[in-house]
Amino acid sequence: MIKDQFSKIGFVLAMAGSAVGLGNAWKFPTMVGNNGGSAFIVLYLALTFGIAFVAFLAELSIGKLGETDPVHSLYKLAPKYKKQWSMAGFFMIGAVLIASFYMVVIGWIVKYIYLSFGSLPTDTAQSRAMFESLLFNEAINSIICFSIVFSIVFFVVSKGIKSGIERLNVWMMPSLFILLIIMFCYSLSVGDGLLKAVSFLFVPDFSKITPEIVLQALGLAFFSLSMGVCVIPTYAASLPDGTNLVKSTLSIIFINIIVGIMMGLVVFTFVFAYNGDTTQGGPGLIFVSLTTLFAKLGLAGNFLAVAFFVSLLFAGVTSAVSMIEPFAYYLINKFNFTRKKALILIASFVYVLGIFCILSYCKPTSEVFMLFDKPFFDVLDYLTSNIIMPLAAIVFSIFVGFVLKKDGLGYLFVPFMGKALFEIWYFALRFIVPVAVFAIMLYQILK
Ligand code: PFF
Repeated sequence: MIKDQFSKIGFVLAMAGSAVGLGNAWKFPTMVGNNGGSAFIVLYLALTFGIAFVAFLAELSIGKLGETDPVHSLYKLAPKYKKQWSMAGFFMIGAVLIASFYMVVIGWIVKYIYLSFGSLPTDTAQSRAMFESLLFNEAINSIICFSIVFSIVFFVVSKGIKSGIERLNVWMMPSLFILLIIMFCYSLSVGDGLLKAVSFLFVPDFSKITPEIVLQALGLAFFSLSMGVCVIPTYAASLPDGTNLVKSTLSIIFINIIVGIMMGLVVFTFVFAYNGDTTQGGPGLIFVSLTTLFAKLGLAGNFLAVAFFVSLLFAGVTSAVSMIEPFAYYLINKFNFTRKKALILIASFVYVLGIFCILSYCKPTSEVFMLFDKPFFDVLDYLTSNIIMPLAAIVFSIFVGFVLKKDGLGYLFVPFMGKALFEIWYFALRFIVPVAVFAIMLYQILK
């Protein structure tokens, strides 16, 4: 059987599709805006290139050298303690857990696309009430929207790497870009909003950079590049030979940053042009503030709202498909399952967890779905972002830095980065990445 493989450009788009997601729409802009503007961007870039880029290449090498699912790749590559090392492949379960609550949020986006065709709430109180009602009272609506997203995502993954994941990304990623450009051009016309947004996002304020912000920026870099949950090794296993790994990684990082910055400019242009609240973060900024601002623009606002939420839908779906593929690939290899059978198993699990997430916010059932005094939704988010992802990044960098043979890595990377840079990368991988990530993890747990 011919192995289902990406084309070179398909790989970059699929990996960028995984990286560019809901995180770019609300985490990145709000963190930049509230933590020192371009000072935060400089810090984020330094951490992305100094640490995340280094660890990203390590994850790529596991997939490319192993050429199979994460568990079997680690088994194949480890010279000793094969079974123990292969266990690290099960960090991919983190991706399945993220998929469960992430698709619930994409479901809310679907609801907002629908709402954008009608009349949008004109004041913040009304808008907040509408969002809170969706979260806390409308379990059935949330379940319907989640089910729509769920069906799209599993349908795409059922088609495999080339005809499913690559095909989706090859049209969704450019469409996302076009939508962003349209919105950006429109934002040029709304008074001096863009100017204020630029100064909010780019005027550096280094006094805001505290150790806590450094750690937050590193956490953001990891989440935003889909690291630690085996998406990267899984996609890399389907990478054609001869692909320039360094250039591809840089393109992925570049696309991820550009989309984050464009999202930030668009969102804050509207916020400033219509005196919205800049301190609102996360979902509040997108679902509450922005909707009321769009409402002020009449029909153009409806058009922009649809464009905006559709672009978020695209960003979210391309990330969600990447979360399912690692475990599906493993089940197919390990138990000889057909793709359909593997996906039915994963889908049942994700569907149940997704419903639990919805019910953990909804009023009548929220009490039942609490764990450690937190809604189940928040528990999954915390467990994956603050524990599984960083722990996996540490284990993978130690594996590649200390267990894999340096020669094999040199063979993979030296042609694309030269000997000197390779030595710097290797040093950073062994001694900087594990320490830095351990620091974030400790901080997240203890704070
Ligand atoms: N990178 C995605 C975002 O920024 O929204 C989130 C993500 C995708 C996390 C895929 C993990 C993952 F496996």
